[in-house]
Amino acid sequence: MTNNLKYFIGNWKMFGDFSSLKIINNVKFHINKTKSKKSRIVFCVPSTLIRHFSSKLKNSNIIIGAQNCHFSDDYGPYTGSINSKMIKRAGAKYVILGHSENRIQKLHNGDTDFLINKKIKSAIKNNLNVIFCIGETFKERKKNLTNKILSGQINKGLHSVKNLNKVIIAYEPVWSIGTGMIPKHNELNKTILFIRRKLSKSFKNKNSVKIIYGGSVNSKNIHKLVAIKGINGFLIGGASQSAKNFIDIIKNCYK
Ligand code: PGA
Repeated sequence: MTNNLKYFIGNWKMFGDFSSLKIINNVKFHINKTKSKKSRIVFCVPSTLIRHFSSKLKNSNIIIGAQNCHFSDDYGPYTGSINSKMIKRAGAKYVILGHSENRIQKLHNGDTDFLINKKIKSAIKNNLNVIFCIGETFKERKKNLTNKILSGQINKGLHSVKNLNKVIIAYEPVWSIGTGMIPKHNELNKTILFIRRKLSKSFKNKNSVKIIYGGSVNSKNIHKLVAIKGINGFLIGGASQSAKNFIDIIKNCYK
């Protein structure tokens, strides 16, 4: 594992238009003059922006990603959908899959673990890096089911996935997304360790899978989060929609 390479992955969700490129350009300006070698910066933007942004940022150290894709490798009768080949050709290098906002628990028609597994395989086949989101709900946490839930999501999501080097696991407790709440230090330490052990036990994967944390990451709590052992970076939602907030997170991370 490249220990000191930190991922800062912005998840813009349903935000942004062509003019929002200036947010990313500001971040680019900042990292060009600072710790760029230590950080990998990815912005997962809405599909409408992938082509434009990836061509504008072609020769920079900012990478563009997508936020979801269809499970089918081929074109098909799926109104409103885009597959991994299409986002790849549009210029995305990463794709977020299994985000709780797209899972069945949230959406009537949302993703099951089975579908997420198909999407992961299709994305890897098309040479995309996958940001695979897992996480327990508040209720599950209260019932002490966190490890069980994560274990199940990992087993099913990564079932017979070959190239685990292309996978980043984003641990995102559902109750922490957009709420301002983050897990306690000990709790998060234990969970990250649990995920790492799980990967080495069930997938014989020691270190190549990166594990990042997501859920209410901001410039005020980043110093607590970066202190967690084994965390390779962060998935940042709301705070990635402002250049200042995003830059402050990076700055405070290296303080
Ligand atoms: P948040 O979102 O940072 O706004 O909590 C994180 C995410 O949903 O990936």
